[in-house]
Amino acid sequence: MRSLHETQTGIVSSRTMSQQLSKPHLIELAKEFGTPLYVYHAEKIKEQYEKLKSAFSKTDTAFFYASKALTNINILKYIKSLGANVDCSSILEARLALHAGFLPKQILYTSNGIAFSEIEEAQSLGIIINIDSLSNLEKFGKKFGHSYPVGIRLRPNIMAGGNLKISTGHDKSKFGIPVTQIKQILDIVHRYDLLVHGLHIHTGSEIKDADVFIKGIEVLFDIVPHFRDLKFIDLGGGFKVPYKKGDTETDIHLLAQKIGEAFANHPNPGGNPLQVWLEPGKFLVSECGYFITSVNVVKKTPSATFVSIDSGFNHLIRPMFYDAYHHIENISNPESPMKKYAVVGNICETDTFAWDREINEVREGDNLVFYNAGAYGFEMSSNFNSRLRPAEVLVKNGKAHLIRRRETFEDLLRNQVEAV
Ligand code: LLP
Repeated sequence: MRSLHETQTGIVSSRTMSQQLSKPHLIELAKEFGTPLYVYHAEKIKEQYEKLKSAFSKTDTAFFYASKALTNINILKYIKSLGANVDCSSILEARLALHAGFLPKQILYTSNGIAFSEIEEAQSLGIIINIDSLSNLEKFGKKFGHSYPVGIRLRPNIMAGGNLKISTGHDKSKFGIPVTQIKQILDIVHRYDLLVHGLHIHTGSEIKDADVFIKGIEVLFDIVPHFRDLKFIDLGGGFKVPYKKGDTETDIHLLAQKIGEAFANHPNPGGNPLQVWLEPGKFLVSECGYFITSVNVVKKTPSATFVSIDSGFNHLIRPMFYDAYHHIENISNPESPMKKYAVVGNICETDTFAWDREINEVREGDNLVFYNAGAYGFEMSSNFNSRLRPAEVLVKNGKAHLIRRRETFEDLLRNQVEAV
């Protein structure tokens, strides 16, 4: 744990300026904790959460942090302290949320293709469940009938999101029960007298256009009259954050205004006022994250100058997997002229973070930082090539806390059984 001056933390007072950790601060952290290193900035998470809360202040809205983006227990605890609920995509995420202190009623398990045993476990833990298949809905009905409320995850057949890999609501997607199967859904609901408290959709990630959410609401509102016990409409997550200069983000205020109007114009025929539920992942934790690396080798070739860092897609898979853009800066040499580089990893297959990227002149040993590394960064890391996963640090109130130690050789062997 260490303390830094406020100026070094980059904490800013202006309400319009975004919180950022400064380059000298990041260099200090790299020196203290080594690289590769994931760093998260608590106050940035708070800023994002407050932004959402204030935008939706006129509409009855509950926020469930999509914890799949970043599940470190300290992050979960911090987000709980802000007053958010949590959305989980596996029963183990739900158990992590309980471990972090969330109450069962604050935990939503939005399931997808899971074994019914996980739904039984979720019920026994007392958490909220969104079911995404006719088959599991039927099993749920048989076992629990009217005794335990349930949400239904629907597929609205809407194309949305930054790219096909992260689009989940279209008509070829595996997610949710197609809304066109409403008759089969209602058969099950009536046969078992199910207590359907919620309808859920999540159409994708990095959705810029507020109207996509409104389209989803229209699809749901068409079927709302069939469900007399509804309490919430869950619109999932997927708000876009900026990844590069000039990038636009979802206009949260416009979105809140449009959602508010849509709900105000459609009172629930069942009688209960309908609450809006949202499941932001990237919006809360993408920008709080910095991934700091060190340059191993600068290799000049006729086609490109390759900068090989002490990392790879085993630590940050987004560029290779989604062609995602992460802004990269040379924090060790910020005043030097810009040059073009191919930033690559040290994994033994093509492992490109950025091609033809302008960065301040790079020397071996420099620290390169990747921005927007909070969401789906560490969380999607692996031990490929028998490399160790990085450490994680949380900067809160200007103090740096180690929240996950760097892996060691022993970790690679921990669960292996030397049986032969
Ligand atoms: N709710 C549900 C049911 C989801 O499946 C997801 C994300 C979210 C909420 C949160 O979405 P967000 O607000 O973070 O966009 N690994 C990919 C993103 C996959 C998102 C999967 N589901 C990436 O790095 O871009």
